Amino acid sequence: MASGESSGMAGTEHLFKVLVIGDLGVGKTSLIKRYVHQLFSQNYRATIGVDFALKVLHWDSSILIRLQLWDIAGQERFGNMTRIYYKEAVGAIIVFDISRRSTFDAVLKWKSDLDKNVKLPNGKPIPAVLLANKCDQQWDGVENNKATMDHYCRDNGFVAWFQTSAKDNINVDEAMRFLVGHILTIDCIHVSEDADADDKIKLTEDTEEPESKSQCC
Ligand code: GTP
Ligand code: MG
Repeated sequence: MASGESSGMAGTEHLFKVLVIGDLGVGKTSLIKRYVHQLFSQNYRATIGVDFALKVLHWDSSILIRLQLWDIAGQERFGNMTRIYYKEAVGAIIVFDISRRSTFDAVLKWKSDLDKNVKLPNGKPIPAVLLANKCDQQWDGVENNKATMDHYCRDNGFVAWFQTSAKDNINVDEAMRFLVGHILTIDCIHVSEDADADDKIKLTEDTEEPESKSQCC
């Protein structure tokens, strides 16, 4: 279950699956910890595989959003599980570390892995926001220039970019809020969880490639 909508007396509820990806040690887990628990630690413990976190957002008086954050280990880009992890995500955060140029160079590899492996039900790429994390530190080798970064985002299909610091709590809420706001504008994902089976079959016939189920666990 990735995205869903239900309505009741209290208003509308959404469940959105959002991926957090990027190279090893760029701060994905730290950003999530900051966002969900308001905590930060200097200690680095590499994520193995994938971790999950849930953030409940009272978007406004009538919309409640459950944000399911998938914290994917940096080392997973070299594995072959991403296709499974990305399934049914409706948004992504791609993170690099401004103090390590190589992590910026990897951004486009993560973006193409993302676009290759997951799409919205209408066949379009899922919205991705780029985070230039550790902005409490010095930039290294990446041009710290708004116009250049805006241009880079337009060229490479990012909906926005933010300088963030999980350490100093800079722009973390703002970036997540921007992505969620963007997801809310996408009509095709507001499909009721209870949509009847016939509708679901029609949807999948149009959009999904045939695949062998025999290798699924
Ligand atoms: P993997 O799980 O291996 O993919 O790494 P990750 O992207 O989850 O990185 P993680 O959040 O574990 O952070 C790596 C290191 O960077 C840790 O020592 C953090 O304390 C540090 N770090 C994370 N965010 C920031 C930040 O905004 N500023 C500074 N100065 N350090 C940070
Ligand atoms: Mg991690």
